[in-house]
Amino acid sequence: MTELPNPVFSQINAFQYKSGSQVKLPDDVFDNFRKFIYDSCGIYFQDNKKYLLESRLLKRINFLGINSYEEYYDYLKYNPASSREKKYLYEAITINETFFFRNQPQLEALVTRVIPEVLASKLKPGKQKLRIWSAASSSGEEAYSVAIIISDLLKPKYPGLEVEIVGTDINHAVIDTAKAGVYKEYSVRNTPAYYLKKYFNQYDGSYEVIPPVKSMTSFKTANLIDDFEMKTMTNFDIIFCANVLIYFDLKSKIKVINHLYNSLNKGGYLFIGYAETLHMISKAFNIVNFPKTIGYKKE
Ligand SMILES: C[S@@+](CC[C@H](N)C(=O)[O-])C[C@H]1O[C@@H](n2cnc3c(N)ncnc32)[C@H](O)[C@@H]1O
Repeated sequence: MTELPNPVFSQINAFQYKSGSQVKLPDDVFDNFRKFIYDSCGIYFQDNKKYLLESRLLKRINFLGINSYEEYYDYLKYNPASSREKKYLYEAITINETFFFRNQPQLEALVTRVIPEVLASKLKPGKQKLRIWSAASSSGEEAYSVAIIISDLLKPKYPGLEVEIVGTDINHAVIDTAKAGVYKEYSVRNTPAYYLKKYFNQYDGSYEVIPPVKSMTSFKTANLIDDFEMKTMTNFDIIFCANVLIYFDLKSKIKVINHLYNSLNKGGYLFIGYAETLHMISKAFNIVNFPKTIGYKKE
């Protein structure tokens, strides 16, 4: 069983990777990693993404002071202590691009059509609760955009409305950023100036989401491919799962969408990314057309 060297003493060992050209990932080891990653989190590295995986793995290998890709693979695969390392592997291999107000037509459909419809179907006058899930939330921009737009446009209309927004992602580091709720200019580049002024505290070039918006949200790590973890995600009225299906193969897409279907209440809506579709993945939803976007409704 491969034991890891102490990272503190690993710098000399790692040096061989830093000087000269990048050490090549052998094809058979690439296949092993590809299968391991696919089985663990559904992400499938196509042949043309080999170089990307190579450089991402190298960062961990360098940090840990391991001698080869093979050794890192053996450690992940066979060492019981490696479950902790898995979270750093996810951090290394995931692509976390996101920003506030990324999909404005969806947000518009949410507040003008979807939430009023969902609330009307609940048929409970007075105090009403809405549960929204930002699945694959990355660093939280999507979840906070939803919280902001609801605060601004719906809270005044529905004074008794209680909203709970849960953001989840497989990458623990982006979840920590989401919890902190502090962002740089790049993340808010698409945010209307009015929202920027009203819903963020600005200091030292940073933008922090204000406490009332933070209090509508919570964040935790969760793996969309994991049956056990997904069983705990229930009773949602609306789910956003955008720009993550693209990293999965058909089998994983079907599995994830099935999980999300089970997590939705009857009458609830799923929104996916602008460039994504459920065509060939699921026939369980009804497609609902909104201006410049579509939603998937669980009847
Ligand atoms: C490109 S970001 C999308 C962020 C946001 N939904 C948006 O559209 O702006 C994709 C996110 O999916 C996450 N991810 C990838 N595989 C996952 C899995 N199996 N379970 C949960 N999250 C996953 C990544 O860590 C990454 O943060």
